[in-house]
Amino acid sequence: MTIQDTVLRRSAPAEADTPRLPPCDHTPRPYDGPSKDEIVSMRRQFTNPTIFTIYKEPLLIVEGYMQYLYDETGRRYLDFFAGIVTVSVGHCHPRVVKAVQDQVATLQHATTIYLHPNFPLLAKKLASKMPKGLDVTYFTNSGSEANDLAVTMARLYTGNTDVIAVRNAYHGGSPSALGLTSPHTWKFPVGGDGRVHHAINPDPYRSPFAGTPEEIASKSAQDVRDVIRYSTPGKVAAFIAEPLQGVGGATHGARNYLKEVYAIIREHGGLCISDEVQTGFGRTGDHYWGFQNFDVVPDFVTMAKGIGNGAPLAAVTTRMEIAKSLTQRLHFNTFGGNPVSMAAGLAVLDVIDEEEIQENARVLGARLKSGLQKLQRSHAIVGDVRGMGLMLGVELVRDRATKESAKAETLDVMEATRELGLLIGKGGLDGNVLRIKPPMCITAADVDFAIDVLDRSFSVA
Ligand SMILES: Cc1ncc(COP(=O)(O)O)c(C=O)c1O
Repeated sequence: MTIQDTVLRRSAPAEADTPRLPPCDHTPRPYDGPSKDEIVSMRRQFTNPTIFTIYKEPLLIVEGYMQYLYDETGRRYLDFFAGIVTVSVGHCHPRVVKAVQDQVATLQHATTIYLHPNFPLLAKKLASKMPKGLDVTYFTNSGSEANDLAVTMARLYTGNTDVIAVRNAYHGGSPSALGLTSPHTWKFPVGGDGRVHHAINPDPYRSPFAGTPEEIASKSAQDVRDVIRYSTPGKVAAFIAEPLQGVGGATHGARNYLKEVYAIIREHGGLCISDEVQTGFGRTGDHYWGFQNFDVVPDFVTMAKGIGNGAPLAAVTTRMEIAKSLTQRLHFNTFGGNPVSMAAGLAVLDVIDEEEIQENARVLGARLKSGLQKLQRSHAIVGDVRGMGLMLGVELVRDRATKESAKAETLDVMEATRELGLLIGKGGLDGNVLRIKPPMCITAADVDFAIDVLDRSFSVA
């Protein structure tokens, strides 16, 4: 018996009651590529075994259209994970596709040693989205590189070495970024960066501190001061944090947290980096950038994922006087500033503005969160519902009092949602947090479908 059978048996007598995906007039192309078995076998033999799939039976995805994905049989799924929070405005959004196709047919690559308009145009457009003064950008290919570069500039500019990050953070997998990343599950016992220290996570759900979320945020901010006093020479280069932790499971502190920490860092000679790889470009709904929800202005904004809607594009934006620190030596990135990636970024930013994507994240994020909170009231397994806009997390626990992580049950829920046509992600140290972060072009009907599917899926876990 499949999970879907169980879901149907438990929650509904008739198949007619199975949740139905909202209608969509896109017809996927017939797929005539290698079979799923052949792909699995090639991956097993020829690709690094660390590369993993999710789901017991791996899913072959061959086409995307806006918020939907299609497998090799033409079956449609509602994508509520967006290629790990990367497809911001929709799979194969026609305007982004056209911009990329036009550029790739004209000039694919030349590097920044020659002039091309797209590179400074995107930097200028980003500056228009930032607080005043944050207007100088370096483009990279990945979020890890952007974070590496921000830390490098912070160290060069301040003359200090130590960096404070937050426990449960994910900032990338390159040897330097891995030093910033916190969970042991991601850290290899090689490389890393010995001058990075992790302070207590201000997430109130699992904080070692008692009190209101605001009190927990203040106590967690004071932990940053303690880390500086006990683990550094008393001066720091930087503090880096995601306004809402992505891989960590949509955790975040109360609104006073970043403000208090930024003050402490600046008191100790450091600069503040906001890692907006997941939280940028309107995803948190009320604001374009995650840090704006916390009423702070960082010294660096790092970004990736959503800026390219799937193109390998990332960036670090800072102030000119800090950016100048990189001129002490030569620095070069072959694909940084690539005209095709820049064309993608320019189109994505235009679509976000013109199609009111941020407003959609705000309105539908609120609808989704309130639906999830309702499910929390009827399913004991839902320990916590958190997040902002279309960046939401649902933490699953075996017991609400002990908060024991419901690891295996999280996998069961994911299998069940997949069978019913909904793709979601997971995260958190124990992998027991459902990560719900769809392309920001979803509709109210998609939200209602997802809530219905989750309702049934929680019943099987
Ligand atoms: C918040 C955050 N920062 C940095 C990264 C690293 O980005 P990339 O995988 O593009 O190197 C990620 C990736 O998931 C991320 O979520």
